[in-house]
Amino acid sequence: MTSSSPNPLRLAPSILAADHAHLAAGLEIVRQLPVKWLHLDIMDGHFVPNFSFGPQTVADLRKRDHELFFDTHLMLDNPDEHVDAFIKAGANLVSIHVEPDYDVEATLERIKAAGCQCGIVLNPGTPAEAALPFIRKVDLILVMTVWPGFGGQSFIEDTLPKMGLLHDWRMARNLNFRLEVDGGIDLETAPLCREQGVDTYVAGTAFFKAEDRAAFLKGIEGA
Ligand code: DX5
Ligand code: ZN
Repeated sequence: MTSSSPNPLRLAPSILAADHAHLAAGLEIVRQLPVKWLHLDIMDGHFVPNFSFGPQTVADLRKRDHELFFDTHLMLDNPDEHVDAFIKAGANLVSIHVEPDYDVEATLERIKAAGCQCGIVLNPGTPAEAALPFIRKVDLILVMTVWPGFGGQSFIEDTLPKMGLLHDWRMARNLNFRLEVDGGIDLETAPLCREQGVDTYVAGTAFFKAEDRAAFLKGIEGA
């Protein structure tokens, strides 16, 4: 087992898995528990083969909740053109993929300059090394454990060594960015990531379908 994370464990339920005709009801389900983070998946139908929702929806959810930490995951070809809108809508953290062709570093700086936390995201096929140029600048690194685009997919075990590498690099440099996983996370796959040093767990399907969501939260975050 790798050394443990420098951060408390967090569950970030993904509102993507809620009923999109009743997102406010999905938000209420999360608010009934002592959950601190909410994961918001933004898809453009181009970088990923699906659409989700945009800044207006984030702003309307923000109006209904001022406490949750809005962890906003942009799956866009041109995140540099849209970060401002999501920050204005109430995001607390905006994470951007490293794969599309745009200035990642300038976009991270722009997010920070607006007073928001920033993160980078690596697709399953993207090596850990792609994070290295940004490792001292980010508040979070998200390792995708499915190919992004849809909830309800199966966890890709091949991504586990990448988490361990990023965690080792974090400890060796005395950094404390959060290490997050997203896709197919449940009470069986989360412990595998925990062993690699992951501290932040996105869960859509497994959270919203859980019979006992309080037990699910406890299973992820511990006592
Ligand atoms: C990928 C999304 C999903 C989602 C998690 O497109 O980022 O990974 O929020 O969904 P589940 O937990 O259903 O795999
Ligand atoms: Zn996500």
